[in-house]
Amino acid sequence: MKLHQKTILITGASSGLGRAMAVELSRQGNRLVVTARREALLLELAREIEANGGRCLPIAADATDGAACQGVIDAAIAAFGPIDLAVLNAGGTPAQRMGATSVEAVLGTMRTNYDTLVNYLCPMIDHMRERGGTIAYTCSPAGAFGLPKSGPYSAAKSAGRVLFDTCRIELADTPIRFVATYPGFTYTEGLADAEVPIKALIIQKDRAVREMLRAIERGWAHHMFPRRIRWPVMLARLLPEPVRRRVLQLAERLG
Ligand SMILES: NC(=O)c1ccc[n+]([C@@H]2O[C@H](COP(=O)([O-])OP(=O)(O)OC[C@H]3O[C@@H](n4cnc5c(N)ncnc54)[C@H](OP(=O)(O)O)[C@@H]3O)[C@@H](O)[C@H]2O)c1
Repeated sequence: MKLHQKTILITGASSGLGRAMAVELSRQGNRLVVTARREALLLELAREIEANGGRCLPIAADATDGAACQGVIDAAIAAFGPIDLAVLNAGGTPAQRMGATSVEAVLGTMRTNYDTLVNYLCPMIDHMRERGGTIAYTCSPAGAFGLPKSGPYSAAKSAGRVLFDTCRIELADTPIRFVATYPGFTYTEGLADAEVPIKALIIQKDRAVREMLRAIERGWAHHMFPRRIRWPVMLARLLPEPVRRRVLQLAERLG
């Protein structure tokens, strides 16, 4: 898919990766529908996109509200026609320790990272089933297995990853592509420095956006980056769970 003169919906576009991706895509003549809750930030983004020569429809909506998400999709189609690419990127990475959190906080992390995905994923499948298109999901290496200090986030991203895997199987005979990207630690408004165990692992937002767009253009099912995150994660996934658990316990004690 060439990302040129396309209609593109981006969720979680008011800051961080979603915003940076919207700005980048606006330079290539795309029609952008940007959504998140913070309206003032979306309006500021829309002005920047239009200054770049792109067209933009900003819509403030809470992605945990299914009816509001359907409203965003309907408004996008009414303004710009069928959606070619949906980047389902809304989410958040709170540090939470099991035993030191609450039912409400754990379920809140699930709503922010999983409900916000599903509320767009199902209607986007219906919309693209005949005509085709790409649905991209911003997952995380944290979704590969349960991590200390971010168990609820790991669980939510893991749920999204597994759901996407099923979409690729069940909807293989449709013209929809399902692309999951897994950015390593990236400097954004959503990432507190304190949450990163080794600062050398952090990458810049522009680099992450380039990697995500490369995966979308090429239709890769999965793209985890950078390599210094991908290889340890893949290796750890191959380990028997008791061994991986011991390694993570040790890493937690040292970190
Ligand atoms: N930064 C990293 O290191 C990293 C690594 C791997 C994966 N990710 C994932 O990348 C995505 C973007 O994160 P980021 O780092 O760019 O953080 P960010 O700057 O905090 O962006 C998160 C975006 O999600 C939106 N959002 C959150 N809850 C929402 C809701 N209920 N309804 C609608 N929009 C909502 C926020 O907008 P409003 O607050 O305005 O609603 C914001 O635009 C997330 O899914 C995150 O899990 C990030």
